[in-house]
Amino acid sequence: MESSSIAIHESGADAKSVMKLVEISAGYWLPRALHVVAGLGVADALDEEPRPAADLAREVGANADALDRVMRLLASHGVFRRVGGKYGHNALSRALRSDHPNSMRAYVRLVGLPVFWKSWEALEQVVRSGKPAVSDVFSYFKEHPQETEIFDAGMKSKAETAIPPVMAAYDFSSFATIGDIGGGLGHLLKAILKSSPKSRGTLFDQPHVIERVEVDEAIGSRLTPQGGDFFRGPLPRCDAYIIMEVLHDWTDEQSLQILKQIRKAAPENSTLLVVETVLPDESAWTEGGGEHFGNHLDINMLVLTGGRERTPDELARLFSGSGWRLSRVIPTPSPYSIVEAVAV
Ligand SMILES: C[S@@+](CC[C@H](N)C(=O)[O-])C[C@H]1O[C@@H](n2cnc3c(N)ncnc32)[C@H](O)[C@@H]1O
Repeated sequence: MESSSIAIHESGADAKSVMKLVEISAGYWLPRALHVVAGLGVADALDEEPRPAADLAREVGANADALDRVMRLLASHGVFRRVGGKYGHNALSRALRSDHPNSMRAYVRLVGLPVFWKSWEALEQVVRSGKPAVSDVFSYFKEHPQETEIFDAGMKSKAETAIPPVMAAYDFSSFATIGDIGGGLGHLLKAILKSSPKSRGTLFDQPHVIERVEVDEAIGSRLTPQGGDFFRGPLPRCDAYIIMEVLHDWTDEQSLQILKQIRKAAPENSTLLVVETVLPDESAWTEGGGEHFGNHLDINMLVLTGGRERTPDELARLFSGSGWRLSRVIPTPSPYSIVEAVAV
């Protein structure tokens, strides 16, 4: 066997730091415990009074010893509080309740769905082939209504935590008409229209998604739902377009197609607002600042959709190939940035 060219000088400090590899490689144990506890509805079964795991296990249909051990692991990471052998709520476990105002239960369940979990299991194959583990994740959801319910609810809880920082970072009220392209059930557009009473909006998504959009009395006829295919159009004519966590689902060619369709519908001087995680550019890495949630999401896109998270330069290239010009990248106090472009 060829010997490595790297000289290995082990010291106590090195041995300690390589423990980091143990932590990383076993890292999935903890999230899996969280998915299962969220799926079982343990946080919903627990009220203010701490309860023993055996009680909770009876209520949610689990084995007492197994649930106790899984909850002990979570409590050791700050999800639930362990007191005198019982479990009580804390801030994170409360957010796992379905009735919490910022509930993340659906999002945790979404990440733990079999289609996600099995796709990550296939990461080696994905890395070898460069192809996603699922051929068309949106068709998959169309054919699995129960999982679609969890997907919708998960996107809603994610969107609800992302919306306040996005709204705080940008003034949408100057636009008379706003199109939310691939806007799902319309959480972002509804929030914008509520805070911009003079604006009107068109929510564009696949017909089977648009069918499930609920009417909001506070907005009334200012929101027009429109079903269709953003690869084919026609898309609505608006002063501004928001496209949140959509481009990252697609390859560069597919993203160009979507952006060209939007440009086809867009009037002169219209604005495009891409809301996504934006990856640190090369200079940030050189300065030691490469760490970003987007690096994780990027691999999720690799395994599930064949899409990717992008740097500002990569987005600028997509824009210049589709009739847009990047004007600025606006960070928000969240992992999401707003990337603004203008029609050229
Ligand atoms: C990751 S979700 C983002 C939803 C929403 N913008 C948000 O951030 O919560 C991607 C959205 O793109 C929609 N989509 C996928 N393919 C589409 C197509 N061909 N035409 C229109 N919408 C599509 C999906 O239905 C889904 O709502």
